[in-house]
Amino acid sequence: MRKPMVAGNWKMNKTVKEAAALVSELLPSLKSVPSVERVICPPYPCLMQLSTLLEGSDVGLGAQNLFWEASGAYTGEVSPAMVKEFCQYVILGHSERRAYFGETDETVNKKVKAALEIGLTPIVCVGETLAENEANRTAEVVTRQVAEGLKGLSQEQAAKIVVAYEPVWAIGTGKAASGPQANDVLAKYIRPTVKDMYGEAIAQGMRILYGGSVKGSNAAEFFGQPDIDGALVGGASLKAPDFMDIVKAAAA
Ligand code: 13P
Repeated sequence: MRKPMVAGNWKMNKTVKEAAALVSELLPSLKSVPSVERVICPPYPCLMQLSTLLEGSDVGLGAQNLFWEASGAYTGEVSPAMVKEFCQYVILGHSERRAYFGETDETVNKKVKAALEIGLTPIVCVGETLAENEANRTAEVVTRQVAEGLKGLSQEQAAKIVVAYEPVWAIGTGKAASGPQANDVLAKYIRPTVKDMYGEAIAQGMRILYGGSVKGSNAAEFFGQPDIDGALVGGASLKAPDFMDIVKAAAA
């Protein structure tokens, strides 16, 4: 049995003050849904304060990125140990980082390894663009992103990975994939690729989330699919009632 997970990717939203207010509002309701692994991924400056607010709860904290080097002259970057000080999770390879900040399968793989080595749980994002989707390249793109992003791990490391399938055309557009359409990509391409790399047990045990315009009104459609183990939520994670609707749908 794979424990469902709902992670909120706040992206570049919320100051420390705003973040603390949102978490204070969310926390009592979040605590009441222990059957779901709940994770909040705010911007870096919020991590220290939110880790204090979340202390003693079983709500996880994640960063949205990290750099693979341990320390040194890398202006503007944040090391794995700096993230680990406050977090249990880290989102890696988000399509916005691939599109705007030059991340490649190769750099994602370096980050995945660095995150695992320090003891963080990577949430590795994959997904095709609209153009790739329309050119029927979804299988090729997603398979490559999984194979390259997750290569060279030990069995033990691979078992810790969470994958998020986020079709780029569904992110922030209000046009979510349909449940069966998303499930198809997980069942036909993502899990089989993991199986080829790390075997059946790891493939079956791996949590794979869907992301892209998930909201309270469509969450149940995704969580009802056999291969979808939860959601990576953007816009709807920024308001407590909206996020709670999704977390509760995952528990149902
Ligand atoms: P939206 O939920 O706003 O579409 O964003 C999804 C996403 O990119 C989460 O990482």
